[in-house]
Amino acid sequence: MDRYAVFGNPIGHSKSPQIHRLFAEQTGEQLGYEPLLAPLDDFAGFARAFFASGKGANVTVPFKEEAFRLADQLTPRARRAGAVNTLMKREDGSLLGDNTDGAGLVSDLKHAGLALDGARILLLGAGGAVRGVLEPLLAERPAALVIANRTEDKAEALAREFDDLGPVSACRFAELQGPFDLIVNGTSASLAGELPPLPEGVIRPGRTFCYDMMYAADATPFCRWAQQLGAAQARDGLGMLVEQAAEAFRLWRGVSPDTAPVLARLRSQV
Ligand code: ATR
Repeated sequence: MDRYAVFGNPIGHSKSPQIHRLFAEQTGEQLGYEPLLAPLDDFAGFARAFFASGKGANVTVPFKEEAFRLADQLTPRARRAGAVNTLMKREDGSLLGDNTDGAGLVSDLKHAGLALDGARILLLGAGGAVRGVLEPLLAERPAALVIANRTEDKAEALAREFDDLGPVSACRFAELQGPFDLIVNGTSASLAGELPPLPEGVIRPGRTFCYDMMYAADATPFCRWAQQLGAAQARDGLGMLVEQAAEAFRLWRGVSPDTAPVLARLRSQV
């Protein structure tokens, strides 16, 4: 049976094995998928040993940059992201690196009914999570995409790096001029139960769509803040997780799973 895995450290919390098992069941694809704890000091050696027999792997924290360096070829979106979350072994034994995170976010936003063409988008954060979604968001032709980050230099550097792809700029939290159609939280502030210091005017009640790339059993601090200010929707990142997995499944198997029932199943469990 074809062998797939997700590499991470830690890995116990990963929902990827369940998601891919549900996709396989639904599509009738015969495959095995296992969570693997990769060592912090030898990711490359561990991954190469897996690919002696393995067909493909997802890569999660903290190995996405190392997977980027390991891949023999990169898709254009992985090259732009500077990170790889999906590896696939080719016929000739070489490893292709892709990044499906941004496509996953865009698919989930579209399923939620959001039109990105002509939208004013605010992205919070300037780390790997934000870098990974910039190209796919700009490909949707927003009217403006503003990056705001606690360390402003990092937001400015990212905006410069991607400004050939669309109308992207950087701004301090305090100087943000709202409202925005979409606000995406790509900071890790929610992990610490914190919230970036945003002016209230970034949200237009009843109109602004808020999205936290994180997910948790309870609403994240960002989603709670958005709800309090009357955002049209406050959605967490569970849908993005399922959609990025579906992109990987398509790459590996050439088959598109139906994500809605899988997301509903996961939602009923968190
Ligand atoms: P990831 O790869 O998950 O994006 P990262 O590269 O460590 O992780 O980036 C974390 C992001 O969250 C950064 O943009 C960080 O801001 P700084 O660049 O100023 O460090 C942001 N962040 C983390 N904790 C935060 C907090 N409490 N408030 C605001 N921003 C925060």
